[in-house]
Amino acid sequence: MRVLGIETSCDETGVAIYDQDQGLIANQLYSQVKIHANYGGIVPELASRNHVHKIVPLIQSAMSQAGLNASEIHGVSYTAGPGLVGALMVGATVGRALAYAWRVAAVAVHHMEGHLLAPMLEENPPTFPFVALLISGGHTQLIAVTDIGKYQLLGESLDDAAGEAFDKTAKLLGLDYPGGPMLARLAQQGVPGRYTFPRPMTASSGLEFSFSGLKTFAANIVRAEADDHQTRADVARAFEDAIVETLIIKCRRALDLTGFKRLVIAGGVSANQSVRENLREMMRQRGEEVFYARPEFCTDNGAMIAYAGMVRLRSGTFANLAVSVLPRWSLEELSELGA
Ligand code: KG4
Ligand code: ZN
Repeated sequence: MRVLGIETSCDETGVAIYDQDQGLIANQLYSQVKIHANYGGIVPELASRNHVHKIVPLIQSAMSQAGLNASEIHGVSYTAGPGLVGALMVGATVGRALAYAWRVAAVAVHHMEGHLLAPMLEENPPTFPFVALLISGGHTQLIAVTDIGKYQLLGESLDDAAGEAFDKTAKLLGLDYPGGPMLARLAQQGVPGRYTFPRPMTASSGLEFSFSGLKTFAANIVRAEADDHQTRADVARAFEDAIVETLIIKCRRALDLTGFKRLVIAGGVSANQSVRENLREMMRQRGEEVFYARPEFCTDNGAMIAYAGMVRLRSGTFANLAVSVLPRWSLEELSELGA
C-alpha cells in the first residue's frame, strides 16, 4: 500500500508518500516561518492562504520525487486536527477531493498521533508498550501507549505547552519567531547555574505540567538586570535547563508508574539538543531505551501523516465524503486499530 499524506495544521505545508514495503519515498515541506516572523507569531488567516498557494505544487513535487502517477497511490491521509481550523480545512479539503478524484480511500489523521508515530519512520523503531512524551507548540502530554490507538493520558500541561513556553520566553529575550530553536541557540552561550528557575509542579507527585510561570520568571530577571547579551544567554540557559529537568522528573515518574521500559519523545521540542541528550542520559542510567525521530520529523511534516495514514487505512479506518476537521481533538478519543 502507498499513501499520500498531507499536513497543514499550522504553519508548515507538508506532503509525503509512504510505501508499505519501501518506506518513505517522497517528502516535501514548505515552511511559512519567514512569513509569520514579520508578525512575531502565527497569523491564522495568512497560514491558510499560504497553504492554498503551496499545497498543489507540493503534491506535484512529491509525486515526481517518487516517480509515481495517480493510479499508483492507494490512499490519501490528511491532518484533521487538532490545529488551526482554516489551515486544517485546506489540507483536508484537498486530500479528500484528491482521494475522490483518484477513487481511493481517504483517512483523517490526528496530528498528535502523527507526532507520536514519527519515530516509527526511523531505523530502530520502538515496540509497545511505551511512555510517550509529546512536546510541541500546542501540547505537553505524557501518554501510556500500549498499541497504536490505545492511548491513556497520564498528565498534560495546565497552561502553556513546552513549545509555547520556549516561544514566549524567546520573544521576551528579543528573539524572532519561532523562538524555540533561537532560544536553544542562545542558551548554548549561556553560563549554567548563573540563574536558577523553578521546576514547576515537581514537588507534588502528579504528572501535570505548568510552564507559564517560567516566562514571568525570565521577565523579572531581564527587567532587574542589565539587558546585555550575556545576561540574555544566561537566562536562556537557565530556562532551558528548567524545562529539561522538569521533563526528566515527570518522565521518570511516568516510567515508574507504568513499569514501561521504553520512552518515545516526539513533537517540535524533541528536536532540541539539550532535551535529546539529557533524556537519553537519564534513560541510559535507568538501563532503558529512548526513541526520537530525526529532528526534521520532530517538527511538523507530511511524513508522519503519511505513515499514520497508512497504518489507519490498512486497518480499515476511512473518512466519509463530508470534510470535517476538529480544531480540538483528544488522542484518547481515537479508536484502536481495526475497532
Ligand atoms: O510539533 P511542532 O512543529 O508544531 C506543533 O504541533 O505545535 O512544534 C513547534 C514547537 C514550537 O513552539 C517551536 O518553538 C518548538 O516546537 N521547537 C523547539 C525547537 N524546535 C522546535 N523548541 C526548542 N528547541 C528546539 N530546537
Ligand atoms: Zn505538530
